[in-house]
Amino acid sequence: MRTHKCGELNKEHLGEAVELCGWVHRRRDHGGVIFIDLRDRAGLVQVVFDPDSPETFAVAESVRSEYVLKVEGIVRDRPEGTINPNMQTGEVEVLVSNVEVLNESETPPFPIESDIEVNEEMRLRYRYIDLRRTSMQEKMRVRRDVTRTLRNFLDDHEFFEIETPYLTKATPEGARDYIVPSRTHENAFFALPQSPQLYKQILMVSGMDRYYQVVRCFRDEDLRADRQPEFTQLDIETSFMDENEIMEIMEEMIRQLFAEIINVQLDATFSRMTYQEAMSRFGVDRPDLRIPLELVDIADEMKAVDFKVFSGPANDPNGRVVAMRLPNGGDLSRKDIEDLTKFVGIYGAKGLAYIKVNDRNGGIDGLQSPIVKFAPAEVWEKVLTKTEAQTGDLIFFGADKAHVVNEAMGALRVKLGHDLNLLEGDWKPVWVVDFPMFDWDDKSQRWNAIHHPFTAPSCSVEDLLANPGAALSRAYDLVLNGTEVGGGSIRINRSSMQQTVLKILGIEEDEAKEKFGFLLEALKYGAPPHGGMAFGLDRLVMLMTGSHSIRDVIAFPKTQSAACPLVSAPAPVDDAQLRELGIRLLKPTKAS
Ligand code: AMO
Ligand code: AMP
Repeated sequence: MRTHKCGELNKEHLGEAVELCGWVHRRRDHGGVIFIDLRDRAGLVQVVFDPDSPETFAVAESVRSEYVLKVEGIVRDRPEGTINPNMQTGEVEVLVSNVEVLNESETPPFPIESDIEVNEEMRLRYRYIDLRRTSMQEKMRVRRDVTRTLRNFLDDHEFFEIETPYLTKATPEGARDYIVPSRTHENAFFALPQSPQLYKQILMVSGMDRYYQVVRCFRDEDLRADRQPEFTQLDIETSFMDENEIMEIMEEMIRQLFAEIINVQLDATFSRMTYQEAMSRFGVDRPDLRIPLELVDIADEMKAVDFKVFSGPANDPNGRVVAMRLPNGGDLSRKDIEDLTKFVGIYGAKGLAYIKVNDRNGGIDGLQSPIVKFAPAEVWEKVLTKTEAQTGDLIFFGADKAHVVNEAMGALRVKLGHDLNLLEGDWKPVWVVDFPMFDWDDKSQRWNAIHHPFTAPSCSVEDLLANPGAALSRAYDLVLNGTEVGGGSIRINRSSMQQTVLKILGIEEDEAKEKFGFLLEALKYGAPPHGGMAFGLDRLVMLMTGSHSIRDVIAFPKTQSAACPLVSAPAPVDDAQLRELGIRLLKPTKAS
């Protein structure tokens, strides 16, 4: 239908007869001459209708935004003074000799411009319009390039792309399952996979050696900007490689990806940090290392002070007391600090104590704060020394149960970093390693797996049983600028160890057999040492395109309430279908 794409025309095409197809992006009537910016995936080009050909001119007069046209014409130079340097095709235009309206369009619900704010519900309801925007087309292009580059890398390194089932059994990754009723098996359900974890391990038992898959995963969990109920992983598994070998090859892949797609040279070796260090210095296991602020423990200093808010948590084994220095933070107003106090409140903090360092050499008189009076000068001196405070700084304090302090002060650190433009460097990848195997859930009085239950511990069965809380795992997360872009581990490849871990998690033998019997059995048939990881592809593309949400890099994402406004899913099904599935609804839908 066409000889060229709109956005690719340039001076090389001068004088050529071309046929173009595209959408009417903009139409301007200039006293007798009509200009249309015609748009396709490659971009825009200006096409010109002059009144000398009355028929085409009449058509041009009748077209509206987003009509689909086919035009024939000659590429010519733009007249002096009308060259548009902001447009890829800005040096040329097409003088139209013939035009055909391929389709009409109603007025779109919002303009096809990249830089306008449109309500997200509206964008998703009319996603086909939204995706016409140049910025969205660009994101889809990067996404295509990213998957292609990753596939090429893995193909070159002898990984097999193998598909695993979507209709399967629950794979625990910490979220709720999406379940699918079976028509042919009464009262039985499939679960959509939270990840292909178990299949990829079985593939290693099968001798596949190296596997990957660009795969959809389904998790019914609370949604955030970087979480969707269905999202895409680049899922990888290898045999006969230890964690260092796996991290090395994954690093190489990510470095190559960033260099090829966005021309960014990441560190030659990614830094590594233990989970312990990340939590202690940044309050999170996915630290944004571009932010030069740190939490400093001061529980020892605060044990004996006259301020219960600090001394309480300082003497509580589950408590934490930290200080965080904000260089030059003395400029913050009372209102700023009130707002920040509200902010940490979201994370459960009961307050946000602070000290302004008006004069570092002025002893206690150089400090300004309602809490200074609660402790003697030498205590504050130790705090100032520990935090390396300077005149003009502000020091924030957090005191509570450790998890509250970590969440609140960790989030405060990120907020200050962004709001005050403190970010240093553009890309700071870091491997977080030495995660604990388990954490203790007080409410249900049991251990939870920090990664998934198939992650190998770095100790023996005996040590694991003796002290589950102290055991570290052979897991590793790749964190980039505060986002966990991937995670993986060396797996358990012996049935006895797997059974021990399930037992610690409170999954007794019968239940283990019912849920994971197939894995426990497979591990008995010569399961090789194996491990791997999975990257959140949406998150990678989000970071690489500078998007604020993974919704912007997914063609048809779900809303915050896990619905699709475009097709109106989820939706009721009719009674006959339910009957066939043997399902009766507890709250029947009202007859419509
Ligand atoms: P994990 O649960 O850490 O590990 O997931 C791997 C990566 O997937 C991304 N991710 C998500 N992205 C968007 N929306 C979500 N709801 C979501 N949940 C996770 C993250 C995360 O790092 N089977 C293991 C991997 C392994 O051990 O090999 C797994 O799924 O970027
Ligand atoms: P109060 O004596 O309760 O008025 O608190 C004195 C200061 O300590 C105020 O600035 C509070 O915001 C702050 N504060 C109260 N609770 C905490 C807490 N758990 N962690 C840090 N600061 C707190």
